[in-house]
Amino acid sequence: MNHQTSIEAKPTTKAFRPDGSELAVDLEVNGKAHHVALDSRMTLLDALREKLGLTGTKKGCDHGQCGACTVLIDGRRVLSCLTLAAATQGSPITTIEGLTGPDGVLHPMQQAFIDCDAFQCGYCTPGQIMSAIACVGEGHAHNEHQIREYMSGNLCRCAAYPNIVAAIVQARPKMRGV
Ligand code: FES
Ligand code: FES
Repeated sequence: MNHQTSIEAKPTTKAFRPDGSELAVDLEVNGKAHHVALDSRMTLLDALREKLGLTGTKKGCDHGQCGACTVLIDGRRVLSCLTLAAATQGSPITTIEGLTGPDGVLHPMQQAFIDCDAFQCGYCTPGQIMSAIACVGEGHAHNEHQIREYMSGNLCRCAAYPNIVAAIVQARPKMRGV
């Protein structure tokens, strides 16, 4: 089951411009304001990767099935492949690139993934980490069974699941106040 959500388009957002012109959109990503022109049908995933050059967020299925594209919007995990970029105006977005502190210190969840060897090819890892942070924040990481249930929307073709669960267990107590 997917525990990520998608963002509904705000009523003021025109879903489509018949003349093909681009829409001016203000995005706030990792604490930085971006003013971009984009097709109003562009997903947040494509806007992050193609307009802002933030390629840490991965495209797996592009259909809401794998969780590789998970980012945080207003602190909630969201599938960016199912979210219109234009609909996210006014909401702070956090991607994997925004987790490391200015001093280069990794987020406890990033460090735990390294310590627990929680990846092989790494393609699913940014989505796993973003989802894991939200999972802890939601209070859905009390035990391994709960972690497996609430991380079930993030697939890993390398089957690193036991190590991913171990990483979340390790990071959980260190995340208070992060
Ligand atoms: S790329 Fe978004 S869920 Fe797979
Ligand atoms: S580490 Fe390869 S898909 Fe998860």
